[in-house]
Formats: sequence, C-alpha cells, structure tokens
Amino acid sequence: MKHFLSVQDAPDVDTIIQEALAYKQSPRKDGGLGEGKTMGLLFLNPSLRTRISTQIAARNLGMETIVFNVDKEGWQLEFHDGAIMNGSTVEHVKEAAAVIGQYVQVLGIRTFPGLVNREDDYSELYIRQFVKYAGVPVVSLESATVHPLQSLADAVTIRECWKENRKPRVVMTWAPHVKALPQAVPNSFAQWMNAWGAVDFVIAHPKGYELHPDFAGKATVVHNQNEALKGADFVYVKNWSSYQQYGKIVSQDSSWMMTAQKLTQTRQAKVMHCLPVRRNLVIADEVLDGPQSVVIQEAGNRVWAAQAVLSRILREL
Ligand code: CP
Repeated sequence: MKHFLSVQDAPDVDTIIQEALAYKQSPRKDGGLGEGKTMGLLFLNPSLRTRISTQIAARNLGMETIVFNVDKEGWQLEFHDGAIMNGSTVEHVKEAAAVIGQYVQVLGIRTFPGLVNREDDYSELYIRQFVKYAGVPVVSLESATVHPLQSLADAVTIRECWKENRKPRVVMTWAPHVKALPQAVPNSFAQWMNAWGAVDFVIAHPKGYELHPDFAGKATVVHNQNEALKGADFVYVKNWSSYQQYGKIVSQDSSWMMTAQKLTQTRQAKVMHCLPVRRNLVIADEVLDGPQSVVIQEAGNRVWAAQAVLSRILREL
C-alpha cells in the first residue's frame, strides 16, 4: 500500500478486516516491522480517537510517532498554487510537506472541509497537496470527504458482532445536530459498505441530505427512518450537513434522534457512532448506556484498523 486515502487504497475489505482482527488477537506480532521508522501525525483539526489509536498502532509495530497540531502550533499554511502570500499564510505546503517528508517515513494528516466551497472540499485540495509534495506515504486521519480509518474500524466491528449466516441489514441514519458537520464519515461508511458487499446497506435521511452519488452508490435510500429501521441488524447514527445546499443545515428534525423506542423496530440492532456524540441530541442516553450500543468497542477497534493499514504501508517502504 503506497498511500491510504480511501477504500480504493485497501485490498478487498474482507482481507483487511481479517488483518485488523489478527492484530487485535496479537497486537505485538509484528513488533519489529516499523523499527527505526517514524510516523508524523499532523492535525489541522482536533482529535481524541484518531490521534491516540494511531499512536498506539504505530507503537505496536515498533514505530515512533511525532504529533504536530498544525492548527495550534504551526505556521499558517498556504495551499493554493501561485498565491501571493501577503496575507495570513506564512508557509506554503510545497515547502512544509517536503520538509516533513525529510523527517518521517510515513505521514498521517487530518484536515476537515471548510463546508463553504464544495469544489475545493471535494477536490481534497489539502491532503492531495501533502501527497504531492511530502514524498512519503500519506495516511488519511480524516479528510474533507472521507474518514477511511474510521470506516475500516466500523467494518471490523460489524464483522466481530455478526455471527449469523446471512447478510446483516446495516442502516446508516442521519440524526439532528446543532452544528453543520462534514459528510466525511457518512460518505466513507457508505463507500466501505458498498465496496464490502457483505451487508444489505440502507441510508435513511430527511430530504435534502442526499450524499454525493459516488458515495451513496448502490445503497437503498429512504426518507422514513422508521421504515428503514424495521429489521435492522446494525444502526449507524450520524449527523451530516447538506451536500446539495453545501454545508447547510436544512433540517434539525429532533424526531430523528435515536431512542430505545425506535430500536424496538429492529432485530435488537447494535448501535454504532464514530464519536464524539452529543447525548440526547443525536442519540439518547438510554441507547448509549444500554446493551445495544457498541460505540466503545467500535472506538477500540480504531487501533487494529490503523495497525492493519500501517503494517501494509511499512511492508512496501
Ligand atoms: N471518530 C473520530 O475520528 O474521533 P476523533 O475526532 O476524536 O479522532
């Protein structure tokens, strides 16, 4: 694996899930793979899970990590070619990425979308500039449009929880939020579920929250949450802002919050969320604190997802 920017960089989804689960069984089995190597973790936005799980994954493989919170500690970066840098930006990504590439052998980057200019965000300007200039493998720690390490951990969690000899019905449902959030997590989850093909995948959202068709793919899309939940085996709850009215909140319908009563329509579905989650706005306390929630297991699996990806990159260095 050269870079890890989306599901397209992974081998088939089942294979990498199995690799992640093997690391969960035996975290240190490739403890020498990354010896003498350093991974840089650049954050242009906050993180709890991604930062810590990737550091642990790297350590399990014998790599060192350097975390750099670019947004708080770094020079303000310029990403546009030909920019006359007489404003607030101090260093161009051409130099910054190339310099970091001198110091580390693998580079992870987190950058959120601006949610103002759809073309800029969906061109993945920021992460692609790092790929272009760093000269080392780049791992997405969440970009403007996708969050592949999260989605791999999600798929690992579904695989772990599912014991029946049929495809599970996996329902990703929009939920209300007070802030306009990126489409990265739902885009990415949809992309991985579609690529995996091992689940019956349904997306439920109010009208106006359609994902880009490249991500929604062949998923069944419904606008009635109760209809979607009937017979669900997994319910993935997530808010996102509108793609069509880009970055806007077009509905805050509180009736879409996930509650215990709604879950009675499912086949005792496991409830998933990437976290952080706003309680009693997105998911009710009774669900998050109840037996059907697997959000902590899901977050734990971030380590094994990251380790499976990093090991593939290290083997090709
Ligand atoms: N789910 C996730 O990416 O969490 P963090 O933003 O805390 O890394």
